[in-house]
Amino acid sequence: MSISLLQGSFIIAGLLFILALAGLSKHETSKRGNVLGAIGMGLALLFTILGTVLGTGGRYGGAAPSWAIVAILMAMLVGGAFGVFKALKVEMTGMPELIALFHSFVGLTAVLVGWNSYLEPGHTDKLHYGELFVGIFIGAVTFTGSIIAYLKLSGKMKSAPLSLPHHNLLNLGCLVAFVGLTVWFVLLDPKYHFGGDGAPIGLILMAALTLVSLALGLHLVASIGGGDMPVVVSMLNSYSGWAAAAAGFTLDNDLLIITGALVGSSGAYLSFIMCKAMNRSFISVIAGGFGSDGAVVGQAQDLGEHRETTAVEVADLLKNASSVIITPGYGMAVAQAQGPVADLTSKLRAAGVEVRFGIHPVAGRLPGHMNVLLAEAKVPYDIVLEMDEINDDFESTDVVLVIGANDTVNPAALDDPSSPIAGMPVLEVWKANAVVVFKRSMNTGYAGVQNPLFFKDNTVMLFGDAKDRVEDIIKAL
Ligand code: TAP
Repeated sequence: MSISLLQGSFIIAGLLFILALAGLSKHETSKRGNVLGAIGMGLALLFTILGTVLGTGGRYGGAAPSWAIVAILMAMLVGGAFGVFKALKVEMTGMPELIALFHSFVGLTAVLVGWNSYLEPGHTDKLHYGELFVGIFIGAVTFTGSIIAYLKLSGKMKSAPLSLPHHNLLNLGCLVAFVGLTVWFVLLDPKYHFGGDGAPIGLILMAALTLVSLALGLHLVASIGGGDMPVVVSMLNSYSGWAAAAAGFTLDNDLLIITGALVGSSGAYLSFIMCKAMNRSFISVIAGGFGSDGAVVGQAQDLGEHRETTAVEVADLLKNASSVIITPGYGMAVAQAQGPVADLTSKLRAAGVEVRFGIHPVAGRLPGHMNVLLAEAKVPYDIVLEMDEINDDFESTDVVLVIGANDTVNPAALDDPSSPIAGMPVLEVWKANAVVVFKRSMNTGYAGVQNPLFFKDNTVMLFGDAKDRVEDIIKAL
């Protein structure tokens, strides 16, 4: 296959990825964005494999040996089957941990590509050695960081932050070790590198760097507190992009460099936006361990008595309301209540009630989680508003329905400086005339902190599965 055909296909795939990102930035165009991204990825895969099988794009000079082609096809079959199986099986609520797991694969791949490239004869220039170390470093940090994020998000590990003494110094020490090892490795006499006739110092440095980076990734993410995990997920997304770009340099694959840089920079920008929304400093997120100020998570406090209500009472409240705001959270995703919530919305709107949605930037477990669910249930986009757009309107609202949200409507974030979520902007739902909270118990939300909203005079609790309760209200209306 000719080089220009291969490069042409890579340019088209790169353009499709850029159009995909542009499409994903708005509800209305997000499906198209997804399709364009999938076509771009299909094209990239097809031409990378064709290039390897037929020559040109391969790393064997000519066409790949038949064992390599069989190995590629086997890997695609196993990877493809795993991907299809996971995609069919995953619940919407399991998406965040699945994404974290996928990020860990990218990180691991970058580490393996780096090691393979070092052990393969023929690469001896210093620039290449530098690239290898950067790739392995980012890949290993992404790998262990994403595994910890996966364990925390899936509830297999406590989400409370690990707080080792001098944790910032530990992180800094790992960074200094990375720089020192890289300089040593790049300047090492060739005879000490793999394949040389001296002591295998190069291999020892590679192993040391890999271990330091694995430990750094583990520590960075383990040190981050529950409520701050969303930023970590988007940060790891960004790291996985840079890991892929580093692998692209090692493999001399332009498309991997472009794709990795797109993912890396868009992930970094998303992390920046989320930091702003959470009122956190971007630098402290990258450095790890923010949100771990030693605050005690889930500590019992006496906040008074809560009041319970019934679906029939809520239906009456809604019949007499002229403005309603719905603030959904993770519980709506767990209950899969978005369909009934959309039906309730249509019913109220048909009766002349103004209904709008207030979406917190980190509601749920994924950036845009609530928007995706509401779009799936065909809630009109123009009544779904961001937190900043709606926060001033609660004061003039009759009823707020808090459907499976907890941390994102917790006033302690504003009132209690010792709270682990202190400083995070929240939906100020308590300012409305009446607040109805849909949840199954008085349990805490993701960050594990008590919510004083549940004990306010204008709040009532409607216990039970959110989908069942919303359906009960529709019946009673
Ligand atoms: P959460 O604070 O997680 O609270 C969700 C609430 O839903 C829980 O208190 C739970 O109470 C209730 N619930 C669960 N299943 C339910 C069901 N079937 N029916 C009714 N209620 C149900 O939710 P949030 O307000 O959306 O906040 C999100 C949290 O997740 C934040 O702390 C955020 O930092 C974190 N986080 C977000 C992301 C992203 S990117 N969005 C990623 C990782 C972490 P019961 O158990 O009593 O029912």
